[in-house]
Amino acid sequence: MLKVEEPQPVHFSPALIEKFGEIVKRYPEGKHKSALLPILHETQAELGWLSSEAMDKVAAYLDIQDIEVYEVASFYSMYFLKPQAKFVMEVCRTGPCCLVGAEKIMDHLENKLGVKEGEVTADGLFSWRGVECLAACGYAPVLQIGPDYTFYENLTEQKVDDLINDLRNK
Ligand code: FES
Repeated sequence: MLKVEEPQPVHFSPALIEKFGEIVKRYPEGKHKSALLPILHETQAELGWLSSEAMDKVAAYLDIQDIEVYEVASFYSMYFLKPQAKFVMEVCRTGPCCLVGAEKIMDHLENKLGVKEGEVTADGLFSWRGVECLAACGYAPVLQIGPDYTFYENLTEQKVDDLINDLRNK
């Protein structure tokens, strides 16, 4: 039998709503819809991901259709439409990074963390995935870690191990 998920109420903190207001002010009168991308980033930073309830609430805030938010959020890979690990390790898998070992780094992450691409470790701390060029090709291979997108460059397996240990101890 088809299981229908009950909508989960979502709460935006007063600080988040205040940020929304600051962002909207950056755009000309009547162009508030242009604030959608940064507002989704802030929402995701607070909630960890974008549930349909959160997106509906953003749509209501901006006075636009729910579908307009879904279209944008589902287009960009930086928006997460399901719950994520605390640290999402995103490895560039575009040509220049692959030439200097990106695939080896991804294999290493899979072995080290014991999860396949897109899966979350049992402790909820880590997941990893390949993404397209991160615009740091001169420092390849490169990964970034959401949700704040810190960059780690000139990766080696040892650097990845050190990074995982550091994050575990955070
Ligand atoms: Fe990896 Fe550009 S190819 S950062």
